[in-house]
Amino acid sequence: MATTKEKTKITEQTRRILSRFSRKRGNLIPTLQKVQEELGYLPREAMLEVARFLDIPEIDVYGVVTFYNQFRLNPPGKHSIRVCLGTACHMKGGYITLDAWKRRLSIDRGQTTTDREFDLDTVACVGCCVMAPVTVVDDKPAGQVEPTKVDGILLSFERERKKRGKKKR
Ligand code: FES
Repeated sequence: MATTKEKTKITEQTRRILSRFSRKRGNLIPTLQKVQEELGYLPREAMLEVARFLDIPEIDVYGVVTFYNQFRLNPPGKHSIRVCLGTACHMKGGYITLDAWKRRLSIDRGQTTTDREFDLDTVACVGCCVMAPVTVVDDKPAGQVEPTKVDGILLSFERERKKRGKKKR
């Protein structure tokens, strides 16, 4: 949950971005895209600002944001986890892998962990079907990602994080 200070900052940043647009309803999608490009996602305060700016009901903005999967309602994590649910990956247990990620990270698809380390989502075929089931980790496809491999991937991130922590001291 954003603090009051963060909310004010989001509102100000959004106003700055919106000042480059004219107040036409047709600008709804381009303004949302630009705000997301700069903020990394579309927080509630940003959507309210867009609604006010274009003089349209807030529910219309929310409807568009939730309709198109290009828009994110949560901040991106430091690492992105994308589980492929294309046909080949689905046949090889993509949904079981997705469940494993959900359980291990304690989030659902489209969400970000509270420490903002990971965000989780699904993708359609990423073109590496021979490696199914595939999970794309930080834009790199990893093959044969069964639930046990999920633990291995998370462990390597954990080690990396500890190493970073030691270096900072
Ligand atoms: S279906 Fe997953 S890579 Fe093709």
